[in-house]
Amino acid sequence: MRSSAGRKICQVRFKMENSNLQDKNILLGITGSIAAYKSAEVIRLLRKRKAKVYPIMTRAATNFVHPVTFQSLASQEVVLDSFSKNKEIKHISLSSLADLFLIAPATANVIGKIACGIADDILTTTVLACQSPVLIAPAMNHRMWINPILQQNVKKLKSLGFKFVGPMKGKLASGEVGEGRMSEPSQIVDYVEKIFSFEKDFRGKTFLITAGPTRERLDRVRFLSNYSTGKMGYALAEEGKLRGAKIILISGPTFLNVPSGVEFYRVESAEQMKSCVIEKFPEVDGVIMAAAVADFTPLKKERGKIKKDKGEKIFLELKRTPDILAKLGRIKQDKILVGFCAETKDLEKEAKKKLKLKNLDLIVANNISSPGAGFAVDTNVVSLIDKKGEVKSFPKLTKREVAEKIWDKIKEMENQP
Ligand code: CTP
Repeated sequence: MRSSAGRKICQVRFKMENSNLQDKNILLGITGSIAAYKSAEVIRLLRKRKAKVYPIMTRAATNFVHPVTFQSLASQEVVLDSFSKNKEIKHISLSSLADLFLIAPATANVIGKIACGIADDILTTTVLACQSPVLIAPAMNHRMWINPILQQNVKKLKSLGFKFVGPMKGKLASGEVGEGRMSEPSQIVDYVEKIFSFEKDFRGKTFLITAGPTRERLDRVRFLSNYSTGKMGYALAEEGKLRGAKIILISGPTFLNVPSGVEFYRVESAEQMKSCVIEKFPEVDGVIMAAAVADFTPLKKERGKIKKDKGEKIFLELKRTPDILAKLGRIKQDKILVGFCAETKDLEKEAKKKLKLKNLDLIVANNISSPGAGFAVDTNVVSLIDKKGEVKSFPKLTKREVAEKIWDKIKEMENQP
């Protein structure tokens, strides 16, 4: 019989052998922060998990740690500038070999530059050319971290799909205590591992996502609609695509760019959205109905324009639109169905009622009365409620982060018997 200590060693070895970082090419950007000394440990841990690490330092970073330290730990030459003696175009060759670009530590300055698309050194030029995921581990004084300009830059990058780990609350270089301390190397490397483990966890699956409002035509020049911008649905499409799913995006009118690599259909009314969803439904493993489908449509659609000389008052007669989600709930079989609900009160009760009524697997409940939630903002405050009644509530997150949580939850449900 094996001892428990022996078993432990075996488990650790098993984990190491199965590290999904094996042979991954990780660019490690190191910028000018005292936390740069921790990058040495980041390299050591990445290499222990069998990744290949290519350090890139800014000039400012070299004031904190000598490049030779990183060169020895990574067994790779540290890249310090864009110009090489041979004909190689460094930012292109580096970015095209990268499976991930990790920037640890990332100063407020580099975050600002990336958010603005500035490329004035080898690190920022490589980020701009990089098509792989970028993970940022910020490190700065807490006064800089809470600065609204910095926060806006972080929000912008998150909504574009950049990932962040940390910063943590703790003792800062100034001796003060606050949020701004870089995450510990082990946490950073665990997050790197997480990115690779979920990166393609929906490979082979097809999901249909609806997004945006619908427009219900009143006459030739007018329509009824709502404030939805489509941001939530588009964030779901982008995140799902990144995680390997084939995405069919059916969108009402929005001003957003169509995410690359998705099968896209533009529709206008609830009726058109229904036809398109029903047509595509047999092809998919699941549907996420993030669209704010109008519940009512004018009974009569005027061919021309309604003229104001019709009188002092006019009355619109409306009829219910088809409830697309409820229809899918009746024909779903083993497909995953995710719905949204927007409430101003009794959120959980109302959401659970809808979940059951429409035969859903998951409902994303929005409290649209809380600040930073609902329509036409970049953030959302949601609870995820599954059909077992389990409720997971989240603080205010960017819509991209909410999308990540929804996909995580779908994965969790898929893995359940
Ligand atoms: N939905 C749909 N077809 C409709 C209306 C809504 O498929 N005609 C979907 C939405 O995409 C969303 C969910 O159903 O996923 C919302 O359900 P709904 O009952 O419309 O909830 P709310 O609009 O939040 O609430 P209310 O009952 O106030 O209308």
